[in-house]
Amino acid sequence: MAHAKSSHPTRRKVLIGAGAVAAAGIGGVGISFARMGSAADYAEAMKALRAPLRGADPRELVRYATLAANSHNTQPWRFAIRQGEIRIAPDFTRRLPVVDPDDHHLHASLGCAAENLALAATAAGLPGELSHGADGSVVFSHSAGSPASSPLFGAIPLRQSTRAPFDGRPASPADLALLEAAGTLPGVTCILLTERSRIDAVRDMVIAANTVQANDKAFVRELADWVRFNPRETLATGDGLISSATGNPAIPTWLGKTIFPYVFTAEAENPKYVDQLDSSAGVAVFVAERADAEHWMIAGRAGQRFALQASALGMKTSFVNQPVEVERFRADLAVLVGMPGSRPDIVLRFGRGKAMPLSPRRPVDAVIEI
Ligand SMILES: Cc1cc2nc3c(=O)[nH]c(=O)nc-3n(C[C@H](O)[C@H](O)[C@H](O)COP(=O)(O)O)c2cc1C
Repeated sequence: MAHAKSSHPTRRKVLIGAGAVAAAGIGGVGISFARMGSAADYAEAMKALRAPLRGADPRELVRYATLAANSHNTQPWRFAIRQGEIRIAPDFTRRLPVVDPDDHHLHASLGCAAENLALAATAAGLPGELSHGADGSVVFSHSAGSPASSPLFGAIPLRQSTRAPFDGRPASPADLALLEAAGTLPGVTCILLTERSRIDAVRDMVIAANTVQANDKAFVRELADWVRFNPRETLATGDGLISSATGNPAIPTWLGKTIFPYVFTAEAENPKYVDQLDSSAGVAVFVAERADAEHWMIAGRAGQRFALQASALGMKTSFVNQPVEVERFRADLAVLVGMPGSRPDIVLRFGRGKAMPLSPRRPVDAVIEI
């Protein structure tokens, strides 16, 4: 994603581009910045999406489920509400063939949503069990119980992927213990890396893998399809990656699409990952015991639980999944975390830092099957 600091040449390129086009407008091209929508309206809509849960209405539970992390914010899910169960089916029309050719991230994203769903239902007095179907669906079967809230449930509206530098402070041993416990599920190991040398090793893998991705035209084209360049476009689609979440100014969609391949370069992106990892308290790597859709889903659940626990502690997280997305880096990462021969599933950095603009979601009606 294009997310430059204000002093960075990339940002200058974007601003120069926008300035040049605005100047051209005097001669007739004509850009109305008002047509890009207002940041204040956007922030208000994002707040409404994350309003407190209103009871045990299944539609409310679905709303909370959709607030989960998911790859490129494609929201690759369809929900079916039935007697005693809510089913989350994969929406393969929203798959990402370039970055995620085997649908690993898609199933992990379903796991993230399933975890939110289970936590919200439990808090609303509908506890139940999650199971995985042969078609890749996740089924939450529930029955009536007493409402049981939890810190992880409370953090659902607060969690966000925060792609900005953190403050560099280490996490306390007590916080690390809570994070590791939250991120551990049967079938998934959560490894915390907090020594600077091992965080540096992850950083170097992220940079190397990011360089491969930034030089891959198909990867950049697919990413550009999911970047939303201004509030109006983001509110219209309700999905995708908002460029303002990484500190970029709003620009017209046509301009964003035109310049994206030129500004999304390894040279521009890699220094941001250096800053992000150097300022993190640590990195969590999630490794499932098997490489199949069910275990990728459970790895997603574990990652979501970890991010929620971090949010409950006032911490921030963001995915740096490049070394699992580019296949050739997986083996080295597995060795780094002491699990040679395994396939690592998710890499999350964590620390303390300021909030960034929240990302959008499609309305509940758009993701529920009748
Ligand atoms: C399996 C998976 C992989 C992801 N990989 C990345 C990544 O490599 N880089 C990144 O910036 N975000 C990554 N994300 C985060 C999503 O882009 C993010 O969850 C989505 O845009 C919604 O935003 P939110 O998490 O702030 O709600 C990943 C999410 C999931 C579930």
